[in-house]
Amino acid sequence: MPEPAAAYGRLQDWRALVTGAGSQGDGVGTGRAISVLFAREGARLALLDRDVERAAATQAMIAERGGEARVFPADLTQPTEAAAAVAQALAWLGGLDVLVNNLGLGSGGARLEEMADAAWAQGLDLNLNSAVFVTRAAIAALLAGQGKAVVNIASVAGLRAHGVGAYGPAKAALIQFTRELAVMYGPQGLRANAIAPGHILTPLVERFAGPAARETRRRIAPLEIEGDAWDVAQAALFLAGPEARFITGACLPVDGGVTAIAPLAAYERLAGESATR
Ligand SMILES: NC(=O)c1ccc[n+]([C@@H]2O[C@H](COP(=O)([O-])OP(=O)(O)OC[C@H]3O[C@@H](n4cnc5c(N)ncnc54)[C@H](O)[C@@H]3O)[C@@H](O)[C@H]2O)c1
Repeated sequence: MPEPAAAYGRLQDWRALVTGAGSQGDGVGTGRAISVLFAREGARLALLDRDVERAAATQAMIAERGGEARVFPADLTQPTEAAAAVAQALAWLGGLDVLVNNLGLGSGGARLEEMADAAWAQGLDLNLNSAVFVTRAAIAALLAGQGKAVVNIASVAGLRAHGVGAYGPAKAALIQFTRELAVMYGPQGLRANAIAPGHILTPLVERFAGPAARETRRRIAPLEIEGDAWDVAQAALFLAGPEARFITGACLPVDGGVTAIAPLAAYERLAGESATR
């Protein structure tokens, strides 16, 4: 979908922190789309990313739209660095209403017998541990804020196995971590939800997926359209905002129906279509 044109002040005066808020290439990845959409809805944004230039590009997009954001550089797989960046961000924001753990990256993809210890550890660090480090550093401020919302960006790879090593198990654990947060802090009013994006066309995917792969990704989803970062951002906005006040511990697939369709049905649709092409 195109970048939303209208804004409704749904997060007016909220303070938001987004991890992985840059984008891996020109264009709009999930962290950038979430940051821009939240800013358009009235939030002030702390942008955490290892890559200052990427996050600065998000900051510039927000400024162009009249919003306010600041970049806090950190490798969020390092607990001390993550805690220091969150502390700086909280000091600048003056509190916290919503945290989006967007950072994640496909990694540790080798078969087990070829997988180095470091690759497995990196997969868990990028897709699970960073969210734990950041949430731990932010939790007291979140509980004192007005929004009290956490949104974790997982993946359909955390719901369905792809045979790719660390990424899926880490995302599955992130979904369970989300539920644990919901139960742990629910009595204090905190809501924690996850999103499982499906085949989303982001700058990173655009780089590695050729036209044939993109066509398969599109057709395997019952809706037969390509999702993009704005689709994920809209779901994050809903789950973060007050309209979702009775929703916690949920994992919302944003996937065009790819986790709804039975594998055999998906296969028959693709095989049937290719037989008639
Ligand atoms: N793109 C997809 O198709 C897809 C599908 C399912 C789930 N997801 C999930 O969506 C999220 C966003 O993915 P994306 O492709 O849109 O990426 P993105 O474009 O949002 O970029 C991620 C950002 O993370 C930053 N980063 C990388 N390592 C870091 C580190 N150690 N510390 C701090 N920052 C770091 C990068 O500099 C980059 O700016 C991830 O959690 C990903 O797993 C994406």
